[in-house]
This record gives sequence, C-alpha cells and structure tokens, in this order.
Amino acid sequence: MRIPLLAGNWKMYKTVTEAVEFVRGLKEALAGIQGVEVAVCPPFTALYAVARELQGTGMALGAQNMYQAEEGAYTGEVSPVMLKEIGCRYVILGHSERRQYFGESDEMINAKVKLALKHGLTPIVCVGEHLKDREAGNTEKVVGEQVRRSLAGLSAAELAGLVVAYEPVWAIGTGRTASPEDAQQVNAFIRSLLAEMGGQEAARQVRIQYGGSVKPDNAAELLGQPDIDGALVGGASLKVESFAAIVRAAL
Ligand code: G3P
Repeated sequence: MRIPLLAGNWKMYKTVTEAVEFVRGLKEALAGIQGVEVAVCPPFTALYAVARELQGTGMALGAQNMYQAEEGAYTGEVSPVMLKEIGCRYVILGHSERRQYFGESDEMINAKVKLALKHGLTPIVCVGEHLKDREAGNTEKVVGEQVRRSLAGLSAAELAGLVVAYEPVWAIGTGRTASPEDAQQVNAFIRSLLAEMGGQEAARQVRIQYGGSVKPDNAAELLGQPDIDGALVGGASLKVESFAAIVRAAL
C-alpha cells in the first residue's frame, strides 16, 4: 500500500556534466522497473539539467534544501517557487548536516515544510539522534521532539502526504548502520507519534524512510522491515551500480 521511495541525496557532489552522465546510466540500469519510486536529489546547479534528463522516465527530482520565503532579498538562497518551476517533486528539509553546520532549528524547518507544501513540493523531513542521545537512552525523546516541532500545525492530509526520513546522525557517512531492528523500532515510534498528531489513517499513509550508511549489502534487510518505506541514500547513491542495487533490494 505504501510505495517505497528510494532517494539519492548527492550532497555537494557532482558537476552538471557528471550529474547528467549519472542519470543516463541510471535510466539504463533501472529501465522498466516498477513497484518502487526512485528520486535523485542533486545540488542546485545540476537540478535543471537533471530535470530534462529525467523527463518521461517516472523517476523524480528532489532538491536538498530551500529557503522559507517565496522571493526576496536573501542572497544565496533558493525558493520553493523556483524548485517547483523546474520540476522538483521533493525537497529534503532538516537534514542533520543542515541542522549541524547551518544552524537550522525545528522551527525553521517547520516554516520550510509549510511553505514547501503550499507550493506543491513534498518535503522529505529528516530527523535523527546523535550518538550521545542513543547512548543515554534518549533516542525517542530527541526524535519525538524533532517530529513534533518540525511538523507542528500540519493537517492530517498534509501529514499523510509527507515523507519522513529517520537518519541517526551516528550512522551517516560512517559505515555504521542502525540494525534493522533498531531502525524499525524508531520508524514505528515515529509512525505512532504521527498517529497521535494526525490520526491513524494519516499515519498509515505516511512514508518513513531510513537513512545512514545504506549499502547494497544491507538494504534488503532494512527495507524488509514493516515500517521502513524506502531509503535516503548518501554515499552509495553516487554510483549507478550501488544505487541501482539498493533500488532493486526494495522490490
Ligand atoms: O541523506 C542521506 C544521508 O545523510 C546518509 O548518508 O552516506 O550514510 O548514506 P550515507
């Protein structure tokens, strides 16, 4: 009933030339694939070229961030209107790297989520605990607060259409993955919280991904968990073979 979403977060990797070459390879590798949704999230500079390359493929385009205003004197920022115009379906919001290096708060992320929805973009909202939180037994407290605050004030229908990505910070880019059981436990917790916020039906529909060192050899087990509806993939999404293998693991 929930179609898994496999999204590649390229972070600050790939020039336009490299991005286009990658997408050509991915189209070939995944030709005819059904039953999953695939998205790539290139850097801003490559979005337009990748959008053209993706036309007619069924694969989706996502941005990695946006600013919480439609237009204005915000040097260096990009608005949801601009992303929508060039064909983005998704926008990653609240990634831990944005929270950590760019000081993004849950309140800021909440404003971005609302504006993205207003402009017909689907936010992929990232949450996740630091290692010290997990070791102190505070995973649910920390993740719960992030979910409540960053998704505050949304209607049941808006919650139902979202994507949430559970990305434990200690698993990002470290090669250390959450065990399928631990990831499932947190994803189920997030779903129960969303049921409190928007009702059972919204919670049943919302897709909750796992992210953090997802690789071809651990993807099937993670994606086989009942509350894991896809993956947000960093490093392994930069090579056609490994990303395609992760997509196939979701089938
Ligand atoms: O958003 C994806 C992410 O942060 C995970 O990165 O490299 O651990 O797959 P990676």
